[in-house]
Amino acid sequence: MIKPDAVANGHTGAILDDIIKGGFKIVALKYTSLSSAKAGEFYAVHAERPFYNDLVGFMSSGPIVAAILEKDNAIEDFRTLIGATDPSKADAGTIRNKYAKSIDANAIHGSDSDENAQIEGNFFFSAFERF
Ligand code: CMP
Repeated sequence: MIKPDAVANGHTGAILDDIIKGGFKIVALKYTSLSSAKAGEFYAVHAERPFYNDLVGFMSSGPIVAAILEKDNAIEDFRTLIGATDPSKADAGTIRNKYAKSIDANAIHGSDSDENAQIEGNFFFSAFERF
């Protein structure tokens, strides 16, 4: 998911280009937004964390781009492509290093396991929206 900061700052095209050049196939793609209820549901796993309310507020503050991506070793390779959660710790050339400003406004979210990728893909897309 390309987060509201990166969409608002005009980085959607550059980020999709990095993703495609990184060898990921786009299976599904959607420009949409999350209500605070839907953002809360998406990040329910973090409900007990101190940053949860700020995260939900931020993620519902503007449009996002959701995608399902496919690649061998996709979870690990995508995490390498996007860099550390805290952009100040993200390696040079990573998406968060190039486009993110803070740990909340960190430009992009990637699933942390194949299981969560299934859940998160189902959150945004029906079977008819995948190619
Ligand atoms: P994301 O990969 O979308 O998953 C949860 C998000 O919570 C994370 O990126 C950050 O944007 C946000 N967040 C804010 N504070 C923290 C923190 N201390 N540790 C981890 N994630 C945080």
